[in-house]
Amino acid sequence: LGDIVLRVGIAGLGTVGGGLIQLLQGAQGDRVRDRLMVEAVSARNRSRPRGVDISPYRWFDDPCEMAADPSIDIFVELIGGADGPAKRAVEIALTRGAKVVTANKALLAEHGHHLAQLVDQHGGALAFEAAVAGGVPVIKVLRESLAGNRTSSISGILNGTCNYILTTMEGSGREFTDVLAEAQRLGYAEADPSFDVDGMDAGHKIALLAAIAFGNSPSISALEADGIREISLLDIRLAAKLGYRIKLIAKAERTDAGVRTRVQPSLLPMNHPLASVGGALNAVVIAAEPVGLITLIGAGAGAGPTASAVAADLFDIVEGDVRLPFGVPSDKLGTPVPAGVGDETERVYMRLLVGDRPGVIAAISNALAKHGVSIDSLLQDPSASDSGVPIVLTTHRCSRVSIDRATADIGSLDAVIAPPLVIRLEDGPGSGPHRSN
Ligand SMILES: NC(=O)c1ccc[n+]([C@@H]2O[C@H](COP(=O)([O-])OP(=O)(O)OC[C@H]3O[C@@H](n4cnc5c(N)ncnc54)[C@H](OP(=O)(O)O)[C@@H]3O)[C@@H](O)[C@H]2O)c1
Repeated sequence: LGDIVLRVGIAGLGTVGGGLIQLLQGAQGDRVRDRLMVEAVSARNRSRPRGVDISPYRWFDDPCEMAADPSIDIFVELIGGADGPAKRAVEIALTRGAKVVTANKALLAEHGHHLAQLVDQHGGALAFEAAVAGGVPVIKVLRESLAGNRTSSISGILNGTCNYILTTMEGSGREFTDVLAEAQRLGYAEADPSFDVDGMDAGHKIALLAAIAFGNSPSISALEADGIREISLLDIRLAAKLGYRIKLIAKAERTDAGVRTRVQPSLLPMNHPLASVGGALNAVVIAAEPVGLITLIGAGAGAGPTASAVAADLFDIVEGDVRLPFGVPSDKLGTPVPAGVGDETERVYMRLLVGDRPGVIAAISNALAKHGVSIDSLLQDPSASDSGVPIVLTTHRCSRVSIDRATADIGSLDAVIAPPLVIRLEDGPGSGPHRSN
């Protein structure tokens, strides 16, 4: 590449954009100083204090104009949002064959296939290490380090807000709404937290990891996403008594029906590598052959860690190391399994609140037996309250359809006060999907 200097335009100067400029202006930028220079920046408000000096750079009010400017070799999109200016600007840059680096998981999860087509048609590049798990280099690991493997599953804690809430609930003995309000005050959770706590943010990220690991287009329609709103302190405590910890797990795995992607609260045995990942950290466990299990843990968000991932993509481009966005040409990308297809078996935790009267346990056992669901363990919590007596059971492995039918029957029993809460129980990491007979 000799003396070529690549010129960078950065759109979005918030948490990540500001962090990136700070990184490039600092000692970390020395490695590429003579081969990469920031040429221009764009944000909404030119006079907003940024904490970094942006005076050396050309200013664009409109990120699309910057994306179209032929002086920009690498367009860095750090605005956010699946549509709107981020999407328009990335399309413009890719359509003129420029290279794009982005941290925008929503954009890629919803429009990744279309953007990969633009890369194929116009010969640019699209890199997005920062879009999943912030500073944790999971995209590179899947796409490069594990290229010679067949991945069977990826399980991750991919939303720091949810992990912070669950960890704090357990540590402080406070309920979800209370901890969420505190997280919002501290700036760990958005004013509208639904994207995080209802599982969609983690869903976008697992859709991207699944695309790279399994050669599929990223797909939101194939995703089953559940969040953590229904998890109570009672569940966290009961799970602990049974030897488990509740985490929001994003998982993509190979099944007989194809690749399945889901986000759901799950009970992990305490010795699972993801069970001990606390606070706002992110972590990913990859099960692949022949490498076995790989676990990555680190900061999933924040200015520095996310800028570190954006810089890795920029430095790769400087070195001439440009990969296809999802590892294969866009016309070779497969289609993930739509939600709900497949007949794997699973084990679950079921928590009930019942009236304190004789015969309840027998009625519950009968409903389970009727649908062929067998009980592994049963715990009656002595801490009865006005809202009923908590009973929790774990099942042996059986089909989800049977579990759903048994749950419906149990929910309709007179003695059962509230709809049963059912949470998936994870085996050890790397155990594959199981089919029902
Ligand atoms: N924050 C993290 O830790 C993190 C981690 C991983 C990935 N990401 C991803 O990184 C991206 C950026 O996140 P962030 O946290 O840095 O967001 P942010 O702090 O809200 O910053 C967004 C930036 O985009 C600019 N912007 C918004 N609308 C614009 C428009 N129409 N034209 C030009 N500029 C516009 C804003 O300008 P003004 O400053 O002038 O308002 C602001 O500088 C998102 O895709 C996010 O999902 C973030």
